[in-house]
Order: sequence, then C-alpha cells, then structure tokens
Amino acid sequence: MEIRKVGVMGCGAMGVGVAQVCAQAGIPTVAVKATPGSTDKIRSGLEKSLAKMVERQKMSAELRDSTLGLLQFTTDESAVADCDLIIESIIEDIDIKKAMFKRLEGIVTPQAILATNTSTLSVTALMAGCKQRDRVAGLHFFNPAPVMKLVEIIHGFETSDEVISTLDEFCKKVGKDPVIVQDTTGFIVNRLLTPYMLSAIHLLEMGTGTIADIDHAMKSGAAHPMGPFELADYIGLDVVEAMALNIYEDVRQPHVASPHTLTRLVQLGYLGRKTGKGFYDYSVKPPIGNPALRHPVA
Ligand SMILES: NC(=O)c1ccc[n+]([C@@H]2O[C@H](COP(=O)([O-])OP(=O)(O)OC[C@H]3O[C@@H](n4cnc5c(N)ncnc54)[C@H](O)[C@@H]3O)[C@@H](O)[C@H]2O)c1
Repeated sequence: MEIRKVGVMGCGAMGVGVAQVCAQAGIPTVAVKATPGSTDKIRSGLEKSLAKMVERQKMSAELRDSTLGLLQFTTDESAVADCDLIIESIIEDIDIKKAMFKRLEGIVTPQAILATNTSTLSVTALMAGCKQRDRVAGLHFFNPAPVMKLVEIIHGFETSDEVISTLDEFCKKVGKDPVIVQDTTGFIVNRLLTPYMLSAIHLLEMGTGTIADIDHAMKSGAAHPMGPFELADYIGLDVVEAMALNIYEDVRQPHVASPHTLTRLVQLGYLGRKTGKGFYDYSVKPPIGNPALRHPVA
C-alpha cells in the first residue's frame, strides 16, 4: 500500500516535527491542532525554524518552499478523511488517545492506517478500542523528529504484517531508520532510557552529586551527548513522568516509580526546555540548576 497523504493529530513539539518530516519527503500532509485556538502561530513558528535552516545552508530555499506548500494546518479533524496514514501525536493519556482513535475510525477510509506516536502507552491497549484492529500500529519518532533517524515501528498484538511492511517502507521513504518492535511498555529506547533518567534523579536526591556533576559525568565518562538531566529537560518532564508511570504500571518495580523531585517539578509546571525551566533554569546563560529545587543543584 502506498502512503500518498498523511494526517498528523496534534501540533505540539512532536506533531509539528513529524508533519515537517512527511512534507519534506514530498508527501502532502495535514496537521490537526487538537486543542482549540488558531494554527497561525504553529505555521509561523515552523516558517521561522525553516528560514533559519536555509540561512545556515542546512536546507535549500526550494525544499523549504515545497515543504511549506505541502503542509496544511487545521483544527478540523475531518480534514484527514482522505489520508492513507494518520499519525496521532497528542498528549500522553490513554483515555484521550482512545477517544481520538474512536473518532478517527468514523472519519477515515477502512484502508487507512492509524498509528500512534506514544512514548510508552500500549499500542495493543489502544487498538482494543478500535473496530479495525489490524490497521492500528505504533510509529514512535524521536525528538526532534526532523533530526533523529530512528523510528520504532510497534507491532501491536493484532497489527497485520501488511501494515508493518507498509510502515517500514514509509519510514525509509521519509529518510528514517526504522526498527520493528513487539508491543512492550516503553518499546526499546524508552524502556532503557526511563530507568536511567530516574536513577539520575535518585542520585541527586541522595546527594551523590549535583545536576551539573551527574550530567558532566555521563557526558565525559560514558560519551553521552547529553547528561540525564539535560535529556529529561529536552524530552519534557511531563513526558518523562508519564513514561515512568506507564512503565511502573506494567512492571510494579520501585526503580521505575516517579521520584519525588520529578513529581514536584511537574506539579509546579517546570516541564523543562519547553517552559524555560526544569532541572535547569534556561532564563540564565549558561543554564544553572533550577533554584526551586532544595537539593544541590548548581
Ligand atoms: N517529547 C518527546 O521527546 C517525545 C518523543 C516521542 C514521542 N512523544 C509522544 O508524542 C506525543 C506528544 O508529545 P509532545 O512532546 O509533542 O507533547 P507537547 O506537550 O509538545 O504536545 C502535546 C499535544 O497534545 C495536545 N493536547 C493537550 N491536551 C489535549 C487534550 N486534552 N486533548 C487532545 N489533545 C491535547 C496539545 O494541543 C499538543 O498538540 C505524546 O504521546 C508523547 O509521549 C514525545
């Protein structure tokens, strides 16, 4: 099956990135803002980021123009009616995602593939609420979607082999490097990365080192491009907390329970880079540990 048009549900960090990836590969794409409000800011934000890429000679002006030309932003869910593939990328909440999949089944054609970009929710649990379960799969992009090569293609319990091979071809067509994964909470990357970030927070709480020390150690000693706190802030602390809760729900082991500090930061709205403050305070340069934390933070 050929994917001729893509629908992306949600215009957050991931939704816009995924929509850009598809349009940049020459596929007409409609991105649906899932919460009320104008889409003008979203388009102008993307225009600005593509203009910077052209300026830095990382993208040609022709590719920028064709990408923007193939992208439609809307708040109307029914605009995805003629899409062959819908990639849902809204808030990490199983009930909200399930309700969206149910609505989508009433909008799209029976041949359309419904994919979720969930980080840790079960694709099988999502497919359970659908009529055409064989058409449901996971398509887990990484942040930032236009840069990161990996896409985990998630094979839910009843996903058809034809859907998996269509998604495999699609990922390669849009320049990605897919890996097929059987549905397991956290799939491969987040199943390994989440306990790692949580362990770093436990070390901080134990006073083992400061945020900067722990990040420094992992960059310098393990050759990681970002330390665990930089990574958590980059992903978004609400997303990290949701990943922890979902993996905990599955395995019930204390090392994946959300640590106190993470819960409190999320409660305070300190969600990382996207809000300007998380483990680090990005309002100062260079960023320092968030002063709201009572632990050694510098
Ligand atoms: N941030 C990451 O590193 C990352 C990476 C891969 C996948 N994901 C997954 O992608 C999805 C989106 O994450 P994000 O990082 O773009 O988050 P985000 O906070 O940037 O965007 C969330 C989106 O959900 C929408 N939304 C909020 N409340 C809603 C509601 N009640 N009903 C419907 N839509 C609602 C928002 O309008 C927004 O478009 C999540 O499932 C997340 O787990 C995130």
